[in-house]
Amino acid sequence: MSFNEQNEVAMRRALELALNGPVKGLNPRVGAVLINSNGEIVAEGWHLGSGTDHAEVAALKDLRSNGRASASGPIAQGLTAVVTLEPCNHTGKTGPCAIALIEAGVEKVIFATKDPGVNSAGGAATLREAGVDVEFGLLQAEADELIRVWATATAQQRPFVTLKYGTSLDGRSAAADGSSKWITGPEARRDVHRRRTQIDAILVGTGTIIADDPELTARHRDGSLYSEQPLRIILGETQLDPGARIFDESEGKSKTIQLHTRDLNSAMVQLFEMGVRHLMVEGGAIVASEFVRHGLVNEFLIYMAPKLIGGPITSLGNLGVANIGQAKELEFLEIKPLGPDLMIRATERKN
Ligand SMILES: NC(=O)c1ccc[n+]([C@@H]2O[C@H](COP(=O)([O-])OP(=O)(O)OC[C@H]3O[C@@H](n4cnc5c(N)ncnc54)[C@H](OP(=O)(O)O)[C@@H]3O)[C@@H](O)[C@H]2O)c1
Repeated sequence: MSFNEQNEVAMRRALELALNGPVKGLNPRVGAVLINSNGEIVAEGWHLGSGTDHAEVAALKDLRSNGRASASGPIAQGLTAVVTLEPCNHTGKTGPCAIALIEAGVEKVIFATKDPGVNSAGGAATLREAGVDVEFGLLQAEADELIRVWATATAQQRPFVTLKYGTSLDGRSAAADGSSKWITGPEARRDVHRRRTQIDAILVGTGTIIADDPELTARHRDGSLYSEQPLRIILGETQLDPGARIFDESEGKSKTIQLHTRDLNSAMVQLFEMGVRHLMVEGGAIVASEFVRHGLVNEFLIYMAPKLIGGPITSLGNLGVANIGQAKELEFLEIKPLGPDLMIRATERKN
């Protein structure tokens, strides 16, 4: 693969444009630019989420309307499309991008990373069959990071699971009397609320609803609601009090759905079918431990307070670890101080 400096500048711009897309939802963030034979960017596009134009189609529309289309023949004759993700090959809510690029007369396509989609992959082969020159791998790490959650969910055909909990330095989630408000400080709680706006759904077990009666909304510091709210999911068989705060779906609050099951795999299938690609599991210990035990956690998000609580209420319970050799080995992805606390992002280490 040989990419020149102009290709890299173009791909950096495409990555930047992709950030205009929504961070959650059914579709990935994708950016695209069209460059001429001098390497100059002549059109730009990005994807704004399910049902809207894909980035390549948006860039072709930009080309059509900005007066830089080829005067004769197909509009993108002789141009190179630089795209953050392999152009799709399937007809979903919109047509296949590979075909749109071929019909527009694009000479070459450079993309950063392959499409993991079951239905959408294969665009590169379609382009090559039509005689378009195709290269990929430029700034692939950056592109992979951009679509990490979506690509993982798509490849595993279940939601990407972030397990979040607040804990004391000695791994306790509450004092012996069950009181847990608040283990971590306001900065950590603000971070949680902000992150709730960036996921599709939040999940807790019935035990947490009974013990804490949480609202599970995303709120600003002054208590007002963010405009983006995650779907609220309760897992477990217990018939809950319909007056619980989580069932309040009044203005600005999202829907709450109870999955009357303890079967995590069936819950994952149901959530994926509902369109959930990023799920944040927020406890309690029983449900959190079950997600870990079944190897369903893609990322751990732990808010650790410099407090010692001791006693019997641990953040996680039975993980199926019988001896130290079976301990779940994690690696830290990020450690950030938040006021007096630490935010730790970690993932299971791959052997
Ligand atoms: N520090 C934190 O970040 C944090 C976060 C949340 C909660 N908490 C604390 O955690 C406590 C509640 O936690 P908890 O562990 O008792 O309750 P939990 O994990 O919220 O819920 C446990 C219940 O979930 C149901 N369930 C669903 N799927 C299951 C499965 N695969 N396996 C087993 N049970 C399943 C069961 O009830 P059914 O009989 O209904 O099926 C089970 O009794 C509260 O004291 C709360 O304050 C702390």
